[in-house]
Parts: sequence; structure tokens; C-alpha cells
Amino acid sequence: MEKIEMNKEKIEEIKRLKEEKNAVILAHYYVKPEVQAIADYIGDSYYLSKIAVGLDNPIIVFCGVSFMGESAKLLNPDKTVLMPEPTADCPMAHMVNEITVDNARDRYDDLAVVCYINSTAEIKSWSDVCVTSANAVKIVKNLPNKNILFIPDRNLAHYVASQVPDKHFIYNEGFCPRHEFMSAKEIAELKEEHPNAKILVHPECNPDIIKIADYIGSTSGIIKYAAEHPEEDEFIIGTVYGVIYKLEIGRPDAKFYFPKTTPICVNMDKITLDHVLNVLKTGENAVELPDEAICDKAKETLTRMLELAAL
Ligand code: 13P
Ligand code: SF4
Repeated sequence: MEKIEMNKEKIEEIKRLKEEKNAVILAHYYVKPEVQAIADYIGDSYYLSKIAVGLDNPIIVFCGVSFMGESAKLLNPDKTVLMPEPTADCPMAHMVNEITVDNARDRYDDLAVVCYINSTAEIKSWSDVCVTSANAVKIVKNLPNKNILFIPDRNLAHYVASQVPDKHFIYNEGFCPRHEFMSAKEIAELKEEHPNAKILVHPECNPDIIKIADYIGSTSGIIKYAAEHPEEDEFIIGTVYGVIYKLEIGRPDAKFYFPKTTPICVNMDKITLDHVLNVLKTGENAVELPDEAICDKAKETLTRMLELAAL
């Protein structure tokens, strides 16, 4: 009870400061439920990058990991983007070297370097187009290039390749620790316990999980699938536990099962209401961009994604 009262005070203070400063709060589905609950917009990486562009507020508080805040700042250089917890970083966003890109460019004349949005601005600046898990298949399908270097995530790359068999893919060995080390055995055991449950997973999962899935999609795709299939009432979920907040809002009648080793994104999970309150009060932890040449190029790859995804 005391905890609820304390949160109530914090939430009121967050609302007050947000109005006073004309700030908007964006949150990814993987952050804690109490943080999602105070956000103005909650979504997957694609939605959050799109929404940031159309907002009038001069201050964006981004409850997510570094590459998300950095992308919002690249697309909105005149706005202040505040990160409630600046050490919340996605390890996969660093898992590729420039040499990998240079070698592939030397080898293939018509190469397109396709970069998952889970990457630093510098990595985006080496690339031709950005994608998220919500639009990767559509964008890669429509590229004129035959040869695709997909960075940094190998699992998403293999999934996209399976959907676009007429292109030739070059892979990079990056991965999300949370999805890579999720246990296919634990998912299979859940399926044995709940044979009628549909298995919904994120394409960052390892291939053993992808093989047994009924649906593969982004976080918002998974939430939408459950909401739009009222005939199903049990789901096994292969992604980070944070999605439960929206899954249960969309389908209060359904049952959701997660692997026994609960998948938590340790970085997203660092963000608390206190951190949000602190940045609203102090203006600390504003995203700073790298040098202009890198930013101009990185912004181009993001803008190209927004254009191609909208076609
Ligand atoms: P979504 O774009 O599907 O939300 O995924 C982001 C992410 O980091 C998955 O691990
Ligand atoms: Fe990065 Fe994985 Fe966390 Fe997504 S779940 S932000 S890919 S570490």
C-alpha cells in the first residue's frame, strides 16, 4: 500500500513536470510495466522511430536503450532527447566491424548494406538502409540489389533470407543475448504442457525456436497477433517478458506462457520511474550525437527506411 502511494506521488510529479516542460514520454514494450503505464506512446522500434518525427514537443523522454534515443535524436536534431538511464544499452547494437562492411563492398558490386535499427549511429552511417523487425522483409524484398549484407543480427538476417529467397545474403555474427540463449527446449516443454497454445516469437530468436514457431514477428506483431485471434486463448511467447503488459490489456481472457528462464532485457529493465522523474527535473542525460558527417549519413539510412516502409 505504501509502495502504491509512493508511486502515486511520483506519477503525479511526472505528469506535472511533463506538462510544465512540454515533454513527451516514449516507451518500448520491454521496459517495466509501471514505466509503460506513464508513457504517452508505447511501441516497437519502428513505431517509436516514426512517432518521434511527428511530435511537436521540444523534449522527448525515451524509455528505451541507447540506439533508440540516438535514432530519435538523429531524426529530430532540434529536439532534446533525454535517456532516463544512460547506461541502458543494447549489446547487439555494437556487434559488427567496419571491415566486414568494407570486405563485402569490395566483393559485390551491387551490394546493399542493410542495417537493423539495433545499431549505433556509426554503424548506420556505413549502411544503405535501416530496417526494424516490423519492416525488414518488406524493405529487403523491394531493394533492387541482389546481394544483401545484413548487419548486425544473424538471426533476423536468416529469417529475412527465408522470406526473400531470390536474394543472396551475407551474414554477420551479431545476436541479441536474450533471444539467442532462449531455450528451445523450454519452449517445446511448454508446448507439451499446453498443446493448444500457439507459439509466437521474435525473429531475433535462435533458429531452433524459429523452426517450431506458429508466428514470427516484431513485438507489436506478437501483441497484434494475440489481440486479433480471439479464437485462440493460449499463447507461448518467445520474446522479452515486458510485452506481457500490452498482451494482457489486449487479451485479458487469454493465458500467456513464457520460458521458465524468464527472458528479461537487463538494459531495458534498468529504467525506473525515479529515473524518468530525475531527467524531467534536471534535464540530465541528453543524447549527444557523434560528428556531423556520421550523423548525416546515419540519418539518410533511417529516412530511407521510413520512406520504403511507407510504400
Ligand atoms: P521490436 O522492434 O520488435 O520492438 O524489437 C526491438 C528489440 O530490441 C527486440 O529485442
Ligand atoms: Fe538489445 Fe536484446 Fe535488449 Fe532487444 S532484447 S534491446 S536486442 S539486448
